[in-house]
Amino acid sequence: MGAREPSSPWLGGPEAPIRARQAHTMARVTIELPQCRYDVVIEPGALENVGETVRSRAPHDRCALLADRTVSDLHGRSVEHSLRRAGYEPVTSALELGEANKTFDTVQRLYDVLLDGRLERRSPVIALGGGVTGDTAGFVAATYLRGVPLVQCPTTLLAMVDSSVGGKTGVNVPQGKNLIGAFYQPVAVVIDPLVLATLPPRALRCGLAECVKHGVIRDESLFEFIRARLPQILAADPETMVELVRRNIEIKAAVVMQDERETGVRAHLNFGHTFAHAIEATTGYGKIEHGEAVSLGMLAATRTAVELDLCDKALLQRLEALLQAADMPVRVELPPDDELTAAMQLDKKVSGGRTRFVLPDRMGNVVVRDDVPPGCVRAGWREIRR
Ligand code: GLY
Repeated sequence: MGAREPSSPWLGGPEAPIRARQAHTMARVTIELPQCRYDVVIEPGALENVGETVRSRAPHDRCALLADRTVSDLHGRSVEHSLRRAGYEPVTSALELGEANKTFDTVQRLYDVLLDGRLERRSPVIALGGGVTGDTAGFVAATYLRGVPLVQCPTTLLAMVDSSVGGKTGVNVPQGKNLIGAFYQPVAVVIDPLVLATLPPRALRCGLAECVKHGVIRDESLFEFIRARLPQILAADPETMVELVRRNIEIKAAVVMQDERETGVRAHLNFGHTFAHAIEATTGYGKIEHGEAVSLGMLAATRTAVELDLCDKALLQRLEALLQAADMPVRVELPPDDELTAAMQLDKKVSGGRTRFVLPDRMGNVVVRDDVPPGCVRAGWREIRR
């Protein structure tokens, strides 16, 4: 990764277009796995040239642009033009892709788009949108003709720092979130932080919850960076976002490179998620946003860690202060404990019938425990129950 110097005499000049003035910051993070290697490119304006990137990784005459409808309205045309300039004939689909649509029904509709467009094994699928788009289109790419090249173009902060990198794809079923899916790595991830300017503030904060998570599990200085730069982050300042996204992807990349299939340390990325998934499942998918559930889940998990004497209360207070400063939810109405416990037991992270919890023992470090007494879990729920 590294900074690219401005090459145009117009850059930085008083009349320079905003886009050009911001274009000097870019970063690249490379993911190296036993079976593949791909770059995550983070660059303001990157979506305007995504066609070149796709062509360099998956040259073919046809491709599919699978986009969330709202994102497509905002950015679809420029991505489609870029694909055409790069010599593709794209078939396009713009579906409503909220958490409630992350289903087999949507998958079938996307298969139909690919089949009707006669996409072949070498034809790339470009996923343009947030986490649901990436997970659903990613699952389609993983299974259509037993796998076609996938380019992730995440347009929400959550998808940029988490779900677009590392190859998790899948859909929800009534029994639980993400219970059906595949590990399927993209051939490239293209991130344009300028699109964050059009992201609703609630969605931006949801992504921030995953950034806070990375700070708590691996990097105290990232936690402090978020705290110090909160106003710039919430204003989606492009330079700040390039740094924020790069730092988060570096953490995610290091974890995924160590443990692609989640047999060990990748589980650390699930900090807060055991509680979060139970919140989402019991309140109904889509009612509470995933990032909001993660914010609450991290607090519940940290309270559980305090009860276990793994960490002191100051850590909980520090976390709560940052989440509150970012206007994230810290309390929520919840169903009775036994309903929440039942939902937790359906989680993928249950092993041998025991629920596994990722718990902080200090800022920047977590441990996995499957021996947490029910009373400590109940204290976690009490912490966030309104
Ligand atoms: N979102 C957690 C992971 O990718 O493992």
